[in-house]
Amino acid sequence: MVEGTLRASVLASASASAFDDRRRSEASTLLSSVAARAAIALHGTPVLLLEPDRVRRQYERLRRALPFVGFHYAVKALAHDAVLAALDESGCGFDVATGEELGMLTRRGVAADRIIHTHPIKKPTEIAEALSAGVRTFVVDNDVEIDKFRDAPPDTRLLVRLAYRSPHAKSDLSSKFGVGPFEAARLVAHAVAAGVRVAGFSYHVGSQLDDPARFAAAAADTLELMGILERRLKVRFDTLDIGGGFPASYDTESAEIEDVARLLRPVLAPHAGRLRIIAEPGRVLVADAMSLVTSVVGIAERGDGRWYYVDDGLYGSYSNVLTEDVHPLVFAERDLHAGARDTADHRWATLGGPTCDSSDVIARDVLLPDLRVGDLLVSPTMGAYTTVTATRFNGRPLTPVAALDPVAATTDAAVQYAVQDAADVRRVPIV
Ligand SMILES: Cc1ncc(COP(=O)(O)O)c(C=O)c1O
Repeated sequence: MVEGTLRASVLASASASAFDDRRRSEASTLLSSVAARAAIALHGTPVLLLEPDRVRRQYERLRRALPFVGFHYAVKALAHDAVLAALDESGCGFDVATGEELGMLTRRGVAADRIIHTHPIKKPTEIAEALSAGVRTFVVDNDVEIDKFRDAPPDTRLLVRLAYRSPHAKSDLSSKFGVGPFEAARLVAHAVAAGVRVAGFSYHVGSQLDDPARFAAAAADTLELMGILERRLKVRFDTLDIGGGFPASYDTESAEIEDVARLLRPVLAPHAGRLRIIAEPGRVLVADAMSLVTSVVGIAERGDGRWYYVDDGLYGSYSNVLTEDVHPLVFAERDLHAGARDTADHRWATLGGPTCDSSDVIARDVLLPDLRVGDLLVSPTMGAYTTVTATRFNGRPLTPVAALDPVAATTDAAVQYAVQDAADVRRVPIV
């Protein structure tokens, strides 16, 4: 028994270090690319390096894993034009929560029938704007919201948001919105009486949910509820929206898209002909597609050891640490080039952010080499809920996002691309 436990923990630590090594090697390839060097030369640090090609590849993985699902990217995860362009060109739909997000898409010329609006609570003016832009699918979870659609065009389709509490998710998205099955039945009856069409149901199992079985259970429960309500209320539903929630791998390996899909497919597939099955993934499409490069701005020896202060922190791009309690890895650039990792001169250090607030601590107990002011650090998996939730606390500007062109083979092309991107960033504030 003890031997078995020991073996399991040896295997676990071997796979953790394989995961670390993979992330390190990806960061090394990125940081040594011509496009990344050009972006760092142009912007200095901090800078977020966005790889739109990785967004495209994640979308293709989702499509392969769940071919009968229509995906709508949750724009809130990373509202950047290069991401929207990559997904638009790939044929992905979009999920918006505000008029601002909708505006980014309509300015691009995205057709309204590829856009759904899933915020359960909306200003009447926002509904009117979305309707006049041609959006027809909306989410509701209460009577007042349903009544806002009494005079909407007849092809308007409402989805009733269900709640599935997920204490294991980093962000339980059913504590603020969504209803249980009895209230759902009452809302459908209310909508029928109000002359508003309920096309089906939506839910969100919780963001960064590393539990494939929970995705399958929520889908099965919703399908069962839909069957019961169709029989009891004599209505017909045609849409099931399975939300988002697919996890990203920050400091440890999480379930992959394919792991979640393996359990979801047998539940959903039998209904795929009859129902339009859609999803609203955010994080999984963009988390791995952006990395943050910072540099050391200060070093201090304190009672609890060495502190490195860097030029981005919890009130900036590392807002995900604050708001979601996720822990992105942090590598020193020097370690990326070391080949076989020699940690003889390394020590455990605390990484502080740049603001005056004592809570602005990015990570404790990070094993780092002896760093100097100006040395670069890189964090992978910084695409989701980072720059979009960053603040300007202490008067610090938002960290620029440089979209890297994978085909920019020469320095000139890469610099030109980065310069264009800098202009884009100024034109489209990412807040
Ligand atoms: C309504 C809705 N849909 C989709 C998403 C995206 O979720 P995720 O990033 O976990 O895939 C969110 C996240 O907050 C959400 O609130």
